Amino acid sequence: MRVFPAVVFNARVANKHSTMPSGGGVDGQWPVLVRKGDIVVSSAWARHRLGKDFGENPEEFYPERWEHLNSEIPGFVPFNKGPRICPGQQYAMTVLTYIVARIFQTFSNVFNYNTKE
Ligand code: HEM
Repeated sequence: MRVFPAVVFNARVANKHSTMPSGGGVDGQWPVLVRKGDIVVSSAWARHRLGKDFGENPEEFYPERWEHLNSEIPGFVPFNKGPRICPGQQYAMTVLTYIVARIFQTFSNVFNYNTKE
């Protein structure tokens, strides 16, 4: 859900002139104008690869990093955020948790194919 988010991009069309709170100015701390009709695209794929949120080598699948993280952090957006957040989030996470539990119940050896650990 972090390294390979199922929904890679999301987009919105502004229905009125608006601003985004930061990202503008030379230091990125100023608002950014979004005109009516503008399309704003965000990428969970890119967002999930920011080391400032996820630690060293953010492109690597290293589940242990979650020992020091919380899935509520703003940078973790597999279901997006805000009023149109995925309403199936809790259901999807429940099913995924069940599948992982069943994998570990069924197979005596589970290892990371990339590292052989
Ligand atoms: C791993 C599984 C899933 C992922 C990663 C996922 C991700 C997303 C994302 C990113 C959105 C867009 C939210 C936005 O535009 O702000 C969305 C919307 C939505 N999802 Fe999911 N979803 C998953 C499973 C489900 C399931 C199981 C259901 C229903 C049982 C569901 C129902 C919906 C619906 C109805 C919307 C539209 C919500 C709206 O526009 O107000 N999703 N989902």
